[in-house]
Amino acid sequence: MDARRLDPRAMLETFRSVVRFQEIETDPVTRRLRRCATVEDLRRVARRRLPRGVFDYIDGGAEDERTLDRNSSDFSSLRFRPRVLRDVSSIETSVDALGRTHPLPLMLAPTGFTRITTSPGELAVARAAERAGLSYSLSTMATRSIEEVAAAAPAGDHWFQVYTWKDRGLVEEMVSRAREAGYRGLWLTVDTAVLGRRERDVRRGYTIPPKVGPGTIVDGVLHPAWTLDFITNPPIVFANVVGLNDEDGSDPVSLAEHMMRQFDQALSWSDVDWLRGIWDGPLVLKGIQRVDDAVRARDAGVDGVALSNHGGRQLDDAPSPVSLIEPVREAVGDGFTIVCDGGVRRGSDIVKALALGADLCSIGRPYLYAMGAAGERGVDHLLGFLQEGLERTMALTGSRRLDEIDRDLVEWV
Ligand SMILES: Cc1cc2nc3c(=O)[nH]c(=O)nc-3n(C[C@H](O)[C@H](O)[C@H](O)COP(=O)(O)O)c2cc1C
Repeated sequence: MDARRLDPRAMLETFRSVVRFQEIETDPVTRRLRRCATVEDLRRVARRRLPRGVFDYIDGGAEDERTLDRNSSDFSSLRFRPRVLRDVSSIETSVDALGRTHPLPLMLAPTGFTRITTSPGELAVARAAERAGLSYSLSTMATRSIEEVAAAAPAGDHWFQVYTWKDRGLVEEMVSRAREAGYRGLWLTVDTAVLGRRERDVRRGYTIPPKVGPGTIVDGVLHPAWTLDFITNPPIVFANVVGLNDEDGSDPVSLAEHMMRQFDQALSWSDVDWLRGIWDGPLVLKGIQRVDDAVRARDAGVDGVALSNHGGRQLDDAPSPVSLIEPVREAVGDGFTIVCDGGVRRGSDIVKALALGADLCSIGRPYLYAMGAAGERGVDHLLGFLQEGLERTMALTGSRRLDEIDRDLVEWV
């Protein structure tokens, strides 16, 4: 054997020629985020860090969760037809829709009870959205109030998501609070006449606010970081409807019971006209699942539709949003905004949705996983890699601007 090959210095030299030592990262959040390259990675970390009941509340869907699965898997039924040799040295991702220029064709959808992930809750999401220049919709069922969110992200593009309670006076009051606080648009959610059956929650006896039993305590002990954050912060309340919540005194109220009492099963198209009458800013109907309903929404004078099945949490075997884009676009024509809401997990999914005719996409769970994994910094990280993924996919498909993403760029397989 060559003596030089056993010389430790020579060995080190050889080693150094191909290896660079990474600096040791002392910040645990940075270390955690470095290992998260995808939404699935954030989901995995959130699953580890959150109590099982909390994780399942976020992650779960209705009944057999077929719609939940298809919302994402239908994106994998689309294949690109990339164009090459198109000088993609400059990529432009901004789009004009719903009365503003969005730096990316992406919005943050409303999610109730966001503080269950980590205590800043909706304030953290709103700040991350503001930094990225993206629109964020606050839920009626939010755990931070309309005013708190506006103050936390004063330069943000805020939307408010309306559930039409039986008490229309209360809805009107919330809408005027949103207007006062500078919110620019409304989403009216129309797919929740009754609450879907989320069977993971049923099995776990999971309610909102959580009822504490032996299982909850064990769950809490096994997830000390979450539990410490939870118990050292003010109680989680439905910040926009604290008055309503109070009617039960301090007793925990199950999510299902609470919502069932307030949701109006009589909601109809005349309520869309009513809301249009009291709100002259941008208005989007969220939860459209058929072509004829999209046409009716356009004719009712709203500004757009979010093709959505509530992230697979309401009616199982409802169609995936991505499968509806093309037929809806054909029926409503150009100039009417279509948002693809549900199953978007990658920048490439956004390109696919746009190729089929959507103007924007929106995400719910991805930012909740990010919050569960690493709080506000998790959301920054998520929005960063979604943007990179969008830009990379555009470059690799030869699309320099969003208007070059056309129907010919994808095919169903
Ligand atoms: C935990 C959770 C809470 C939600 N709460 C609301 C809500 O209060 N109002 C609403 O309109 N949609 C709500 N949604 C639905 C989201 O706005 C959005 O439609 C859905 O998350 C999109 O699918 P995705 O999670 O695959 O991105 C919720 C979704 C989740 C996961």
